[in-house]
Amino acid sequence: MAQSQTIKTIGILTSGGDAPGMNGVIRAVTRTAINYGIRVMGIRRGFHGLWRGDVAELDARSVSDKSRVGGTFLMTARSKTFITQEGLQQAQKMTQVFGLDALVTVGGDGTMRGAGDLAKLQVPVIHIPATIDNDVGCTDYTIGFDSALNTAINCVDKLRDTASSHERCSVIEVMGREAGYLALHVGIATGAEIILIPEQPFDRDKDIIGKILSARNRGKQHYIVVVAEGAARGEEVAQYIEKNTGTEARATVLGYLQRGGSPTYQDRYLASMFGIQAVKALMENRVNRVVVLKQGEVTDIDLLEGLETTKKITAESMKKANILSI
Ligand code: F6P
Repeated sequence: MAQSQTIKTIGILTSGGDAPGMNGVIRAVTRTAINYGIRVMGIRRGFHGLWRGDVAELDARSVSDKSRVGGTFLMTARSKTFITQEGLQQAQKMTQVFGLDALVTVGGDGTMRGAGDLAKLQVPVIHIPATIDNDVGCTDYTIGFDSALNTAINCVDKLRDTASSHERCSVIEVMGREAGYLALHVGIATGAEIILIPEQPFDRDKDIIGKILSARNRGKQHYIVVVAEGAARGEEVAQYIEKNTGTEARATVLGYLQRGGSPTYQDRYLASMFGIQAVKALMENRVNRVVVLKQGEVTDIDLLEGLETTKKITAESMKKANILSI
């Protein structure tokens, strides 16, 4: 990496919903920056902490033994004040007060939009995508997705045991906000009979009741239905199934279980690589960037362009899930 002429001190914050692997990102950014003689200020409680000046210096030791732990030791918040013009200006002022030459933001799409707003106010930023939802359009992967998937898969496997003993239908509602990535991947990995995601409109009778009845006619005696929270309420789906098929149905909302726990190998490894890439961009005098994973490669792209990029679950992926569910 070429030595940066301008970046002497950076700030780092985690914002929005926490995700396993965020601590690994903070560690990687901190240690890589220190390695190149850059001071690192940890901003607590996300953007909320930035505008309140909730800042303390991080050293190599303060990030020790953190990357195996879920959550974020810098803590996080969903700040309503920050998204106002006044909040943004106060945040920008705080970057000057603490002498931050650049800011590294870690979080999902909301955090990335916040980073974009600060970039427009001339605060140099690098964003690192981290959310269990994997719904940031410009990157194939967001830190935390794999850990959440593994947690959910583990829960669904357990639910299948009891659904099978009782010959029931187990409806599992997973997180993901408006996106169905978690549901689709959990559903495929656990062999769900039905996967409901917001990206794919469904007909309750044809796509739920019809499928369960034909699965029953093919000899199945218990059923797994994975529902993305953005598609339907698990409890309502379970009631509809029980009423219209006569099969007992139970709903489980996995909720915040999916956000906690020790990060998987993939999240620890990519958190490290994303963190290194963020500092690399700064060292090479690239600012207002977002770190992304594209076709297996960790790189960085223009932040504002990244904010315009969308991605979609393809009909093809849903077709594959359907083939496997017969
Ligand atoms: O974005 C991550 C996420 O866990 C979503 O899947 C979920 O809809 C949302 O955050 C819940 O947010 P909160 O922590 O504010 O309840």
